[in-house]
Amino acid sequence: MVFSKLFAFVTASLLVAPPSVSAYWIFGGTRPVVTTRLDPIVDPGEVSSHVHSVVGGSRFSPNYDYDDLITSQCSTITVQADKSNYWAPQLYYWNQTDDTYTPIPTSFNIYYLPRPGPKNETIQAFPTGLRMVAGSPLRRTNNDSNFADQAISYQCLDYNTDHTGDPDWEQRADFFDHQCPDAMRAQITFPPCWDGVNLDSADHSSHMAYPIQAYNTGDCPDSHPVHLVSIFYEMFVSVDQFPYVPGSWIYSFGDNIGLGLHGDFQDGWTNKTLLQDALDNCPDANGSVQACPPLNAAVNDDIASACHAELDIVDESVGLSSPPLAALPGCNPLWVGNGTKPTCDPTPPTPGMINSTLPLPSGWTAMGCVAEGTTGRALASASTTNPAMTPPLCANFCDNLGYPYSGVEYGDECYCVSTIMCSLFEHSN
Ligand SMILES: *[C@@H]1O[C@H](CO)[C@@H](O)[C@H](O)[C@H]1NC(C)=O
Ligand SMILES: *[C@@H]1O[C@H](CO)[C@@H](O)[C@H](O)[C@H]1NC(C)=O
Ligand SMILES: *[C@@H]1O[C@H](CO)[C@@H](O)[C@H](O)[C@H]1NC(C)=O
Ligand SMILES: *[C@@H]1O[C@H](CO)[C@@H](O)[C@H](O)[C@H]1NC(C)=O
Ligand SMILES: *[C@@H]1O[C@H](CO)[C@@H](O)[C@H](O)[C@H]1NC(C)=O
Ligand SMILES: *[C@@H]1O[C@H](CO)[C@@H](O)[C@H](O)[C@H]1NC(C)=O
Ligand SMILES: *[C@@H]1O[C@H](CO)[C@@H](O)[C@H](O)[C@H]1NC(C)=O
Repeated sequence: MVFSKLFAFVTASLLVAPPSVSAYWIFGGTRPVVTTRLDPIVDPGEVSSHVHSVVGGSRFSPNYDYDDLITSQCSTITVQADKSNYWAPQLYYWNQTDDTYTPIPTSFNIYYLPRPGPKNETIQAFPTGLRMVAGSPLRRTNNDSNFADQAISYQCLDYNTDHTGDPDWEQRADFFDHQCPDAMRAQITFPPCWDGVNLDSADHSSHMAYPIQAYNTGDCPDSHPVHLVSIFYEMFVSVDQFPYVPGSWIYSFGDNIGLGLHGDFQDGWTNKTLLQDALDNCPDANGSVQACPPLNAAVNDDIASACHAELDIVDESVGLSSPPLAALPGCNPLWVGNGTKPTCDPTPPTPGMINSTLPLPSGWTAMGCVAEGTTGRALASASTTNPAMTPPLCANFCDNLGYPYSGVEYGDECYCVSTIMCSLFEHSN
């Protein structure tokens, strides 16, 4: 499994208007914690049919257990009390000239939207361990009157030209037929109404429902009376990094139309009271988690930015390192239209799992230990702490800030510096 520096992140300054006017938080600018062919909700314990891009808690794994997930050493979500995982299929660029596939850099904004309807129901935090899926990779048709279909949509971003009123640039149900100069935004609104009983269901969605009046706001139906905070994903896909060619944006499951977009959520909030506290006491949320005291108390950007998966992932390349893939991982040939999924001949072998723990970033080597001076730290330019700090985590943190030296101390502290002035002494035990 290779992690590269390919992925570029959409910064907060590029955020555009939120989906509605009332309170919301953005758990934002989030890069994937891992990109791998797992889906512990739909295919527990197995290699999944297609590759997903996953954000959130570092103990994402083939088998889910809420009690284990909340012990994640970190989350890519800045609010570290949220060890939930949020995932969606990886979008690839299909080079139709040489028939190769390259993952398109992706980052997420996860919105939390408290959206009561006319009855003004109290908005609840997730029941412990809730999981759900919105959308389906099998969807090949669009029904504009159906809330579940309305919940999946696309925006084409162009920060330099105003395309208001141009139907070619309006939000739509499938891929655009032109370039998106500042990335394409793939959007998923999850159903917020819970049946009050089941944390999951056989189809991973029937224990949840959309409100009565609209897919994104309204009162909950009697069958699903508990109104939870709505989850909305914005997946920013940097399609602009590749030349526009019709049909070349293709999901990891072979869909180059876009209707099969889907999202998965696994609750991993370590402190339910904290989320409920935020929902009850920050009614004027304007996107900023820092502006809501209970959420702000749990923010740690350094830990989020150094966070990577810590358990097993699938032992195969998903294309993050060159050369590009000759085929999408698994059996995922181009699949358009509403016929049955094409098969593969021969059927690709199913890979095993490997430990996802990162090696030191490329170019980094272990140098040994250095004694702290009596007049200050040896590595004093930047620092972070994490209860489960590791040398790779620390090297990644310093690497991201441009420092060539990193060091771990006391098991949980990480320090960076640009130059080391004195000789290094090796510490022998
Ligand atoms: C697609 O493949 C052709 C042939 O290998 C190559 O010349 C071209 O640069 C590739 N396009 C992209 C966007 O990588
Ligand atoms: C909805 O209920 C909350 C208290 O739960 C109250 O603060 C708010 O004013 C109510 N809003 C409306 C529109 O009635
Ligand atoms: C479209 O969705 C609406 C609302 O769910 C439903 O009543 C209608 O039967 C659907 N149409 C088709 C063709 O499936
Ligand atoms: C959980 O959050 C609540 C509300 O913000 C806070 O008072 C409490 O101390 C937290 N509990 C733990 C164990 O951190
Ligand atoms: C949100 O509110 C906080 C506190 O009132 C303020 O500091 C911040 O600038 C606001 N952010 C936006 C995007 O309006
Ligand atoms: C993964 O490898 C690391 C470093 O070799 C080791 O500390 C860790 O226990 C391994 N994790 C698993 C789940 O095997
Ligand atoms: C499947 O696609 C064909 C051709 O586009 C269309 O005529 C047919 O109505 C579709 N069937 C369904 C169930 O959508």
